[in-house]
Amino acid sequence: MKKYLLLTVILSMGMGAFPVFAQQGGPAGAIINHYAANNFVAGAIPAADLDRIVQAGIRAPSARNRQPWHFTVVQNLALAKKVVPQTLDGNALIVISAAGDGKTNGAEILDCALAAQSIYLAAQALGYGSRIYTGPIDGVNRGLKSDLGLPGGHSAVVLIRVGKISAGTDAVSAASSRKPAGNMVTYK
Ligand SMILES: Cc1cc2nc3c(=O)[nH]c(=O)nc-3n(C[C@H](O)[C@H](O)[C@H](O)COP(=O)(O)O)c2cc1C
Repeated sequence: MKKYLLLTVILSMGMGAFPVFAQQGGPAGAIINHYAANNFVAGAIPAADLDRIVQAGIRAPSARNRQPWHFTVVQNLALAKKVVPQTLDGNALIVISAAGDGKTNGAEILDCALAAQSIYLAAQALGYGSRIYTGPIDGVNRGLKSDLGLPGGHSAVVLIRVGKISAGTDAVSAASSRKPAGNMVTYK
């Protein structure tokens, strides 16, 4: 048994990174099994599901409970494609914004990041795919604030794409590998 464990560790180190954890069930399954979806397909998200997903963002923790965020839910395909060109019909983009320039308002950015993660996980817990994006944020803040109707003085911080996904994909087959825990975790 020990030999087998040692071999597994050596092989994994040889690969440069440990494979993604095995798919796990139980109450924490949706939190542990997440992956950044690439397998979106077209198809509408029922309003009740979308509302539950956005509620998860609203429920996120924030420093001093200041809740600095605004959630702009983009379902209009033409507008969504201006932000993320790969968006498919029925996908929703949830743009999280806060007062400031979206770059130097560090405290608000951390709060918005937590809200983004809550949305990302809630979507996957409900059986949808989700992916967090910051790549399009500069473009949004340069030219799309008014198209999106962001609140005055706000800049976009992060966005989450949510949508239906093709069957047969899970975190084991879809997620990228992670660095070995031994390089990043210290127990004292
Ligand atoms: C802050 C942040 C910004 C990201 N921005 C982008 C992006 O602009 N475009 C993109 O395709 N993916 C983006 N991603 C997704 C990451 O590439 C993905 O989460 C990472 O590769 C891990 O994927 P996995 O969980 O499926 O293994 C972003 C993720 C985070 C957390």
